[in-house]
Order: sequence, then C-alpha cells, then structure tokens
Amino acid sequence: MCESVWPVIVLLSHLFSSAISLPVSIYTPPPPLPSQIWPPSSSSAPSPSLSVLQPTPPSLSPCLLMISPSSLVVRFGDPVKANCSLSQMDFYLLGWENLQRAPQPTQGNFLVWSEDRVTEWSIKPMCYALSDHGGPCQLHLPVTVYKPPEKVSISFVNHTGPMFEGHQYTLQCTVWDVAPVKNLIVRFFRGETELVQLKSINNTGQKPATETFTLDISPSKDDNGAQYWCEAKLDLGPGGPESPPMAKSENITATLLFGPQILCPAKLQVREGERLSCEVRGNPPPLVTWMRDGLKTAPPTHSTTKHAGKYTVLAIGHVGQKYHTVEVEVITGSGTSHCSSRAVVLILLFIQMKIWL
Ligand SMILES: *[C@@H]1O[C@H](CO)[C@@H](O)[C@H](O)[C@H]1NC(C)=O
Ligand SMILES: *[C@@H]1O[C@H](CO)[C@@H](O)[C@H](O)[C@H]1NC(C)=O
Ligand SMILES: *[C@@H]1O[C@H](CO)[C@@H](O)[C@H](O)[C@H]1NC(C)=O
Ligand SMILES: *[C@@H]1O[C@H](CO)[C@@H](O)[C@H](O)[C@H]1NC(C)=O
Repeated sequence: MCESVWPVIVLLSHLFSSAISLPVSIYTPPPPLPSQIWPPSSSSAPSPSLSVLQPTPPSLSPCLLMISPSSLVVRFGDPVKANCSLSQMDFYLLGWENLQRAPQPTQGNFLVWSEDRVTEWSIKPMCYALSDHGGPCQLHLPVTVYKPPEKVSISFVNHTGPMFEGHQYTLQCTVWDVAPVKNLIVRFFRGETELVQLKSINNTGQKPATETFTLDISPSKDDNGAQYWCEAKLDLGPGGPESPPMAKSENITATLLFGPQILCPAKLQVREGERLSCEVRGNPPPLVTWMRDGLKTAPPTHSTTKHAGKYTVLAIGHVGQKYHTVEVEVITGSGTSHCSSRAVVLILLFIQMKIWL
C-alpha cells in the first residue's frame, strides 16, 4: 500500500512546487522498503544518505532482566538495596557491575545488591546476564544520591543599610552544600507572597555544591519593613522521600528611605474643638512645620473659628522636602443644627405627603 501511495505524493509535491512556482525541487526520500526498516532501538536518527544497516548491538538489549525497584533515590549515607532478577532460566551468569562493592555473580535467577551506607555521589549500577543463546544483556538502575541543603541564607548583593524607593537591588539566596543541584528549586518570598521560583540552569554535578540564585527588586514605599526570605527544596520526584528535603533562610528586613508625602486635601474641614492635623508620611519620619501668614505656628489642638484660614505645611524628609497649602474651615456647632433642621424638613414633608394621600 505504501508503494502505491508514494508516487502520488511525489506527483503532488511536484505539482505543489510548480504551483507556487518555486524553482527548487523538493527532495522526496525513497519509500522505505521492508528490508530497510531501522532497528527500533537505534538512537541515531536514520539519515537518508546512509544505506548501511545498523543492527542493535545485543549488549544494549534489556533482555529479560528486571530490577526492583526500577530506580532509586537515596540519601547519602543511607542503606540501599535492589534486586535484579531474570524471568527466564536459559542463562549461565547473573551479576552487578559498576559498583564498588558488587555482590558475587550468581547462577541463580536473582541477585540482590545492598549496601549499609551509600558513600558515593555518582553511582551507575548495571545488572547483566550472560546467556547461552542471545548473547549478554544488561539493565541500568538509575540512582539519585541526595543531600539536603546544609543551610540557606539571603542577602543583598553589594548593598547594606536602607534602600531608596525606585532603585534596583539584587537579592541573593545561597544554598549551601546540597546535592544534586539540578533537583534544587529555590523560591523567593516577601512576607507570605511568593515572588519567583528558580532552578539551576546548567549545574548537572552530582556532588554537593553551593549555589546562588538572584532576584532583582525595585522596592516601593510599601516595602518598607517587608521581610524577604528564600526557601530551597530538593525535588526528587515520585521515588524521593515523602516530604522533600527543604531549608529556609532567615528573614531580611527591607528598610526604605522615602518621602515626605503630604496626604492632605486642599480644603480641610475640622470640627470646633478638634485637633487640626494632616498626615505626613516618610522614612525617616519627616520634620513637619505649619505656617500661617508666613509665620511658623503650631496647629491648634482645639480648633475655634479663629483658626479658619490658609495654612502652609512644610515637610522635610531624608529624600527631600515638600510644601502643601491647605484651606481650613472650622465647622461650628451650627453644623449639627443644620443636620437636625434637615431632619425636621424631612418629617414635615412626610406629614405633608400623608395629607396629600
Ligand atoms: C528477588 O526477585 C525475585 C523475582 O521477583 C524473587 O523471587 C526473590 O525472592 C527476590 N529476592 C529478594 C531478596 O527480594
Ligand atoms: C560589587 O561591588 C564591587 C566593587 O564595587 C564590584 O567589583 C563587583 O563587581 C560588584 N558585584 C556585583 C555582583 O555587582
Ligand atoms: C519571617 O517573616 C515571616 C512573615 O513576615 C514570618 O511569618 C516568619 O515567622 C519570619 N521568620 C523568621 C525566621 O523570623
Ligand atoms: C551555564 O552555562 C553558561 C553558558 O553556557 C556558563 O557561562 C555558566 O558558567 C554555566 N553555569 C554553570 C553553573 O555551570
């Protein structure tokens, strides 16, 4: 069926190429003949120019071997155990390879490799069987040896002391003495909020290493007093321990220099007898001066009608200074009578409506 379809495809592709008037001839590989089917286990992609058959080397075949468990995740220094077995009996030797303390090969149908303490970072055990017919075969056991982070610390890169709003700073999370680094996931937090999750890009080493991760931040005044911290976790997959090994850094408190900010309307109403005030923000707390008619004055704590008028608020902070002009109106007791008279009007209106109805 394949052979009958192929010329049509070739024809169609020629038609197509001429239809879009491309002078380039589209290369169409010859149809695969049954005798040229590539071995499924061949890892290299078949190249059309290569016509030599590449049979699978028998040594790569997993044959009838089985390892239980099929992969291992073990903490450095912990015991390890794996059982390699054969489901068929036509062999003459079963053994483990690539191990410092490999068990003696056996003629039985299973062989257990076990160690009380794993003391190597990179183990690539392999179980093999030598059989009478079919040649040798082997099976790899993937092993991940891990070590939880010794500690995690957080700091600012090249910076100490307070920060300025709008400037950029770099937070650095250092994870000490952890393996394998490629399984490491680092998360940065501000208070309870997660900011970012990072992984090591190309550290594929298996031995413990100290790795740093960075995050650029440009804090705003809301970040004054914010607590930054980071957390490192080893993601070891389904074969790993139930709760992944993790460690947290201490908190680093951001101190931001900002302000002054004067949060005051242009027109301010204050009740008779109450204190006249305007909110001024900044870190460090700004120095606030009130002025009236060009003279320094203390804002009244018990306002009276004589306090109504124009004031100027001057706030001097660490980062600069600001002026604000405010028109103060003092609401006297008549303000309340205003309210009650409105209520009287409403009641009168209500009575009037009843009469109309
Ligand atoms: C190893 O596996 C074989 C086959 O499943 C089983 O018969 C044997 O009891 C196992 N040995 C150990 C020690 O688990
Ligand atoms: C930190 O500052 C020093 C000296 O100013 C400079 O040489 C170094 O490159 C800086 N490091 C980083 C990571 O910016
Ligand atoms: C760090 O700060 C967070 C929230 O801001 C708090 O929940 C946590 O307990 C603090 N951790 C330490 C070690 O102080
Ligand atoms: C990752 O790769 C980049 C470029 O390929 C290299 O500059 C960098 O040093 C590598 N980092 C690590 C941790 O290997």
